[in-house]
Amino acid sequence: MRSFLLGHSPRSLGFVPTMGALHEGHLSLIEASKAENELTVCSIFVNPIQFNNRNDLHAYPRSLQTDLDMLEKADCHAVFIPAEGEMYPSETRIRINFEALENNMEGKYRPGHFNGVSIVVSKLLNIIKPTRAYFGQKDLQQFRVVSQLVRDLSFDTELRCCPTKRETDGLAMSSRNMRLTPEERVLAPKLHEALQMVGRLILSERNIIMARKKAEDFLNKAGIHNIEYLRVVDGDTLEPMQLLKNSLDEEVAICIAAYIGDVRLIDNILITIPPSE
Ligand code: PAF
Repeated sequence: MRSFLLGHSPRSLGFVPTMGALHEGHLSLIEASKAENELTVCSIFVNPIQFNNRNDLHAYPRSLQTDLDMLEKADCHAVFIPAEGEMYPSETRIRINFEALENNMEGKYRPGHFNGVSIVVSKLLNIIKPTRAYFGQKDLQQFRVVSQLVRDLSFDTELRCCPTKRETDGLAMSSRNMRLTPEERVLAPKLHEALQMVGRLILSERNIIMARKKAEDFLNKAGIHNIEYLRVVDGDTLEPMQLLKNSLDEEVAICIAAYIGDVRLIDNILITIPPSE
């Protein structure tokens, strides 16, 4: 990858890191990168150290040939597919702790996850040295963590957070959706419905606790019982909120993680709350 890039020396280089099993969400990141960079590189690497659960790592969908066909069709200029031994020639000893940023949601329910994400993203940014790197809003906490990493370690890369791509019924596109059975696939869009319900209720009633409770009841009634979290958090710091701050144009994120059968799905929406009169 380094010699390929030396041979091209583009004026601007866009980078889309992925774990493969590509879908339209990834392709929208490739498009965003192509629109503002001379050259676009995608990486495919299922990063073992960001999985806190070995079963989840083994069950993670892999579809390399289809991914390559999709990238070719999308006119992505290059794809970096390192082997595990190349990325981790020896055991990594470094530990990165994002403190409050990872005390809730994904950081809380997947211990060590953001340590693994930030190590692999650091390695990839060091290898590729992109001008800009593209991430999806579906992994909002990941985006905030990577932004902190890039600021704290002075990586010379601008980050872009691109909108979540959804199926027509609202389900956030995710590589994990491939693992849903047809019955589970019918249930899965309820997660997005629940997020919208919380958003509507907060805007009308301004009561976060009641909004969360109603949405959890809605999910339970629909047959979704294994909800890891349904949180309303500050859109920027991701700190959990029980009450609205009533500041001007307050941005909140409504985030969910739940199991549909064996498949753990996450989603979020960002909304702006006007101050009450
Ligand atoms: O979002 C992902 O697919 C992964 O967490 C990433 C950023 C490629 C790091 O492995």
